[in-house]
Amino acid sequence: MISVRGVSKSYNDGLTWAVKDVSFDVTAGEVLALVGESGCGKTSTLKMINRLVELTSGAIAVGDRDIMSIPPVVLRRSIGYVIQEIGLFPHLTVEENIGVVPELLGWSVNRTKERVDELLNLVGLDAREYRKRRPEELSGGQQQRVGLARALAGGPKTMLMDEPFGALDPITRAGVVEEFRKIQHDLSLTVIFVTHDMAEALILADRIAVMKDGSIMAIDTPSELLSNPGDPYAEELLSMPQRQAKIITEIAKSGGEPL
Ligand SMILES: Nc1ncnc2c1ncn2[C@@H]1O[C@H](COP(=O)(O)OP(=O)(O)OP(=O)(O)O)[C@@H](O)[C@H]1O
Ligand SMILES: [Mg+2]
Repeated sequence: MISVRGVSKSYNDGLTWAVKDVSFDVTAGEVLALVGESGCGKTSTLKMINRLVELTSGAIAVGDRDIMSIPPVVLRRSIGYVIQEIGLFPHLTVEENIGVVPELLGWSVNRTKERVDELLNLVGLDAREYRKRRPEELSGGQQQRVGLARALAGGPKTMLMDEPFGALDPITRAGVVEEFRKIQHDLSLTVIFVTHDMAEALILADRIAVMKDGSIMAIDTPSELLSNPGDPYAEELLSMPQRQAKIITEIAKSGGEPL
């Protein structure tokens, strides 16, 4: 479904190499998580797939078509994109934000309205209360949920999501992640998502790609990576949830004394 072959990206005329010779395939209906520390090239990798950033070398195909042969606007209309900065249009209401792609696709006013209601419910926002609000009248987490609804609006088969749950509190986040997993499964969505939360990657992803300094250090299923990371950096990153759990257990045992 998505094929990335030997892709590199340089900014500033070769001064920064954000992505270096990266290759991976994502099959239809598969969820791939990109993890790695800040600046390792996750967003650049995502943005090259929908041509928000042009690749420097290598090749990317979406649905067997080379992305360079698809006009960027057409490509982006077919791929749901949740951007890291949420990026709602500030002058549009919640329903207008979510309705952007349906409008471009020529849907009727009624069909779009029904879709907006359905998606707001899906992300846990009461349509009656939120439909007419502007982004500035929403909390960061509510804006993020509207961003997710907007990316799903046109019924894309492919989604690129850059830290889509990052602004949500842990309880809301767990609910939205679970909901998204159901949507993904029901619609067989092909998804590439970025997260800093290894536990989230382990829960949602069929495969995880660990990136460092623009390269993929390891890419495999969660169970295979956990039992055999094959790379010291991947091993360290994957051990984070266990390390956190251990610290919490120790704090509980110490009766609240600092460790
Ligand atoms: N438009 C740009 N011009 C120049 N350099 C850039 C540009 N965008 C990104 N970079 C650089 O490319 C590298 C990779 O950036 P990228 O945004 O892909 O990282 P990331 O893994 O998404 O990080 P984060 O987790 O902080 O979002 C960084 O060193 C960054 O400074
Ligand atoms: Mg990023």
